[in-house]
Formats: sequence, structure tokens, C-alpha cells
Amino acid sequence: MRILVLNGVNLNVLGSRDPAQYGGISLAELESRIYDWARQLELTVHCRQTNSEAEFIHWCHDAYDAVDGMVVNPGAWTHYAWSIRDALEPLRAPIVEVHLSNVDAREEWRRLSVLADIVAARFVGHGPDGYRMALEYLKEHR
Ligand code: DQA
Repeated sequence: MRILVLNGVNLNVLGSRDPAQYGGISLAELESRIYDWARQLELTVHCRQTNSEAEFIHWCHDAYDAVDGMVVNPGAWTHYAWSIRDALEPLRAPIVEVHLSNVDAREEWRRLSVLADIVAARFVGHGPDGYRMALEYLKEHR
């Protein structure tokens, strides 16, 4: 089962961001945990991160017919980038939205997710474990 994990804007500087929200883990550490979980779950996972909205959208396009599931944390794009919603909508495989912090209990502007109506599940506020939950969800709902 092929799963693409896409992290978006500012997730490359995770280790420098507010530890109260993001826990101080670096992107490299996060991706290493994701690959460990993938091995345990016998999933083929590929992780990517970009700060370029266009690149993120190209990777979504490339995923059509190429993956069996997607895990996305678009960072702040989640809250306003309708272009990313439109790029993900045609994907036939299930999409799971993940946020390290509990976006539903933070500032008002973070409570809108442009992806909410097209994702199969959302895991928010569980820190890195949210990515494990997303992989488990995709395996269970294959
Ligand atoms: C985030 C939450 C977003 O609101 C924020 O802009 C991020 C990270 C999270 O993982 O908690 O960059 O997606």
C-alpha cells in the first residue's frame, strides 16, 4: 500500500517553532518516526515537505492514480489555500488531514480547514502520533 505524506509551509522549521504547540520535534525526527511506523504497519510511505504552494500542488497532481492514500499537513495553507483543496479533490484514494496542534481549539482563523469536506478523517492535537493514527486509519480503511 503506497502512501504519500505531504507536509507544507513552515513544517521544515518545526524544531524552532513554539514548543507549546508543536512539541520541539524537528521535521527530520518526525519523518524518521513516520518511516518507523510505516515499517511496523508494512506500508510503503514517502514523506515530502515544501514551502512552495505550487510544488505542493504539483505533488498532489502526481499522486492521482499513483498512491493508495495520502496524509497531509498543509500548515497554514490549511486555513485559506483553496487551490490545495482543488488539487486534492480529484484524488480517488482517501486523504487524512493531520495537525500537530489542536487547530480546532486555537485562534479563530485556524478553525477553518479548506480540506474538511474532502478528507476521510482528521487527527488534530495529537502531536506526532497523529501521523501514526493517520497511517493506521489508511491501513484499516484500504
Ligand atoms: C499546523 C497548524 C497550522 O495552523 C499552522 O499554521 C502550522 C502547523 C499543525 O500541524 O498544528 O503551520 O498545521
